[in-house]
Order: sequence, then structure tokens, then C-alpha cells
Amino acid sequence: MTVLEVLTAATDYLTKQGIESPRLNAEHLLAHVLGKKNRIELYLEFERPLGERERAPLRPLIRQRGEGRPLQHLLGNVEFLGYSFVTDARALIPRPETEHLVELLLEAGDFPRILDVGTGSGIIALSLALKRPLSAVTGCDISPEALALARENAARHGLAEKVEFLESDLLENIRGPVDLVVANLPYIPAGDIPGLSREVGHDPILALDGGADGLDLIRRLAAGAPRILAPSGILALEIGQDQSSSVCELLEAHNFRDISPRRDYQNIERFVFAKHG
Ligand SMILES: C[S@@+](CC[C@H](N)C(=O)[O-])C[C@H]1O[C@@H](n2cnc3c(N)ncnc32)[C@H](O)[C@@H]1O
Repeated sequence: MTVLEVLTAATDYLTKQGIESPRLNAEHLLAHVLGKKNRIELYLEFERPLGERERAPLRPLIRQRGEGRPLQHLLGNVEFLGYSFVTDARALIPRPETEHLVELLLEAGDFPRILDVGTGSGIIALSLALKRPLSAVTGCDISPEALALARENAARHGLAEKVEFLESDLLENIRGPVDLVVANLPYIPAGDIPGLSREVGHDPILALDGGADGLDLIRRLAAGAPRILAPSGILALEIGQDQSSSVCELLEAHNFRDISPRRDYQNIERFVFAKHG
């Protein structure tokens, strides 16, 4: 079979299994198996015959993708803001919305001291540290598994000594002061979790479950953040669809000011920024 024939067969299989963007998935997995830097390189060799030795490793990957295992777990890494990070079942797979959150923070200015709460794989803390080498960046999470992954990602980018990762239930073990608290905390209402896609079922439940209305952790963070924010420090939150007005109200109740919801690329109010003090 040629590269193109292998791709076509894998695409047909993934289509039958109800996988979204089947051709794109097949291209990523074949490029991965063949050790290509990116899937576009496959286009240069569509007619090349692939022997059994080259094709064999693809089969289990296509099968697992067909069963709903996320593409990012099969590839083992994800691109975030142009950097490559390891991703696996220990933490949430980074989402494009979160990349947008970091872009908005980079536009918002320089923050000498940054805290990323619920850091997961560490992508927010680490990409900010890479883009702002003069900032002191800390990430915290309640999950030791997520923190182990975040530390691996830090080492991968030469940031092991630079970015500190702490185990903490929200701000419990954090002293402050900091100029920016950024958090993409779990915000899915517990009752919605059983209806999520097969792929999301591979994210740790601890990364998803936001309690009855999805706001349990955001509520606690809004109450606790003023203790560690420097004067005029910023709290920047990623939130769920339809949570913007509730989140703005609860920030107001904790005396935040300049509360501003921001939209993502799908025009959804996905982030809220606010100042304190
Ligand atoms: C939605 S994930 C976000 C991960 C990462 N920041 C990202 O954007 O990809 C939420 C993270 O919050 C962590 N978390 C959940 N409850 C927490 C708590 N009480 N204190 C600290 N972190 C918590 C989870 O372990 C998970 O890593």
C-alpha cells in the first residue's frame, strides 16, 4: 500500500467509528509513526509504498483513536503557543481557548510575579515563563500527578530551576504577594460530566468537576485571591460558557474592580479579568 492508500483506509475506519476530522487524525498518527516533523511532509510522498514494518505501528494507534482515546494522548505531546508540551492522562489536555487566555495576558502587560492556580500540565505557567523570562512564575495544583507532569514539561524547556510547582488546595500553601493570579479551574457542572464526549472522558475528573453549578472552585478562589494579590493585581479566569455574569457578580461581591469579560475566538465570554486593591 502507498502512503495515500494507508491514509485513505485509516480515514475510512475512523469515519465509521464516528471520529471528527478523520483524515486529519489519520495524517497526524501516520506522520507520528513515520517520524515526520509534521503531517504536511506526508504530502510529498503520497505515492511511496509502505512496507509492513512501517505500517504495523499505525494499527494500534488507529484502533485506539477509533475507541475515543484522544489524539494528543496517542501523540504524547501538544503544541501550545508554538511550544511543544508532553500531555498524558495525568492532566487535562491543553485547549485552544487557554492558548488564547495566555495571548490576552501577554497583551495585558508585564507581571513581575505570576501564580497559575490549577496548573495541570503547567502550560500556562511555562508558556508565560518562556515569553516573560523576567517574571517569577509559580504553578500550583492539588494533584501530585499533574504536578509531576508540569515538572517534566518545565525540565523539557529548561525551566526546572526557574518555575516552581507547589502542591496546594487552591491558595492554601501560597504566600504571595503576586501581581497576576491566572486560573483555568474545573468549571463543568457535575451533572453535565456524564454527557461529555468520549475524548473528554480521558481527562482527569479532578480537572473537570466544578461542583453543582460548576463554580465551586472559582467561588473559593475569588474569595481567597485578595489575600495574595498585590495592590492593583489582576485575577484572570477561564470560565465555562454561560458563567460570565455569575462570575462577574461574585467578583464584585469580593470587591474586585475593572471586571471585564473577554471573548474567545468563538465569540463566547470565556475569560474574566478583574483587579483588586
Ligand atoms: C481545567 S484543568 C486546567 C489545567 C491547566 N491549567 C490547563 O489550562 O490546561 C484544572 C486543574 O485544576 C486542578 N484542581 C482541581 N481542584 C483543585 C484545587 N482544589 N486546588 C488546586 N488545583 C485544583 C486540577 O487538578 C487540574 O489540573
